[in-house]
Amino acid sequence: MKIPPFRLERYFDQYEFKVRHLLSSSDCQSMSINALLAMEPGASEAFGNTWLGYTEAPGHPALREAIANLYSDVSPEDVLVHAGAEEAIFNAMHVLISPGDHIIVQSPCYQSLAEVARSAGAEVTAWSGDQERGWSFDLGNLKQLLRPETKLVVINNPHNPTGALMSKSDFAELVALSQQHGFLLFSDEVYRSLESSSELKLPSLCEVDESGLALGVMSKTYGLAGLRIGWIVTKNRSVYSALTAMKDYTSICNSAPSEFLATVALKHADTLADINRKIIHNNLELLDDFFCRNEDLFQWRRPQAGPIAFPKYLRGAADGFCRKLVDEAGVMLLPGSLYGADFASYFRVGFGRTSMPEALLAFEKFLR
Ligand SMILES: Cc1ncc(COP(=O)(O)O)c(C=O)c1O
Repeated sequence: MKIPPFRLERYFDQYEFKVRHLLSSSDCQSMSINALLAMEPGASEAFGNTWLGYTEAPGHPALREAIANLYSDVSPEDVLVHAGAEEAIFNAMHVLISPGDHIIVQSPCYQSLAEVARSAGAEVTAWSGDQERGWSFDLGNLKQLLRPETKLVVINNPHNPTGALMSKSDFAELVALSQQHGFLLFSDEVYRSLESSSELKLPSLCEVDESGLALGVMSKTYGLAGLRIGWIVTKNRSVYSALTAMKDYTSICNSAPSEFLATVALKHADTLADINRKIIHNNLELLDDFFCRNEDLFQWRRPQAGPIAFPKYLRGAADGFCRKLVDEAGVMLLPGSLYGADFASYFRVGFGRTSMPEALLAFEKFLR
C-alpha cells in the first residue's frame, strides 16, 4: 500500500513536544491516571488488578456498554472498539472501498478521511465548504456531485478544521438522500457534545440511519487522547463483521489498561464533556477579543462547535507567518496549506486546553 504523508501529523511531529505554546491542538484538556481514577470509588484498586492478557477483540463488554449508553437505541453489539479514531478510519475505508469506487468527502477535511480511501483506490470528489457562509456545506452542491455509482459520503460534524456544524434539517435531509440514492454515510463525530449550545447538537448517525457508520473517540470531547480508544457504531451487520475481520490485521484487540480507564471515564462522560465545554467557552471569549483587536491581520468567524477554528490571515499565505511565530516565539499554529493549497491563507487555532490563554498572550506579544 502506498499512501502520501499525513501532512498535519508530520508538521506536529516537528513541534508538538518541543515548543512552549501549543495553539492549534484539536484535543481537549487531559488529566492524569490518578485524577481519572479518583472520579470513581474503588477504581484505583480495580485498575491495579486489571489483567494484562489479550482482550476481547470487539472491545471489553463493559466498555462497549458504556459507549452504547452515549447514544439512544444502540446496543453494545453495534459498537466496535478501535485503537483511536485513526485505526477506525483506516479499517473502515479499507472495508468499504474497492478500487474505482466513487466517494465524496468534505473539503477542507482531516486528511485521513480522504487519503486512506484514495490510497485504497477510490476516486475522491471534494465537497467544498463556503467560508463566506460560516464554512457551511451546501446540500444542493452535494447533489450535483453525486453520481449514480457514488458509494460513500464522508461527513464530519463538528468539523475539523472549521468548527462548522450542519443544521438538524440538513442532517436529516442528507440521511434521507443517502437512503433514496443508496450511498453509505460515514459520520466522523469525534467532536460531538462540544457544541456552543445544546440545541445545536445533532443526533448521531447511528441513531437515525441503519446502514451508516458513526465514529467516536476518547481524545477530543473527553480529553483522553493518550488512551487511544475510539469506536465505530453501526447497525449494518455486514459492515460490522467485515470491520471485525479487518481489525484482526491491525490491532486485533485493544489495550486492557486503556479499556479499563475509558470505561471509568465514560461513567463520567457528561462531567468530562462539561469541563471541556466550559474551557472552550472561556477561551472563545478571549479569542473574540483578540481577533477584534487584530482585525487588520485576521478574519475571524466564531465556530459553532468543537475546540478548533480556521481564521484567515489577511496578508497572504499563512505558512511563513506560522513558521516565524513558532521559531521566534515558540507558539504553534497550523498553516492551512496542510489541508491543501486552496487553504494557504488560513490557519488552525485550537482552544480546548487550559493553557490556551497563556499561548494567546505569547502570540499577541509576538504581534506587537
Ligand atoms: C476529525 C477527526 N477525526 C479523527 C481524528 C483521529 O482521532 P485520534 O487521533 O484520537 O485517533 C481526528 C484527530 O485529530 C480528527 O480531528
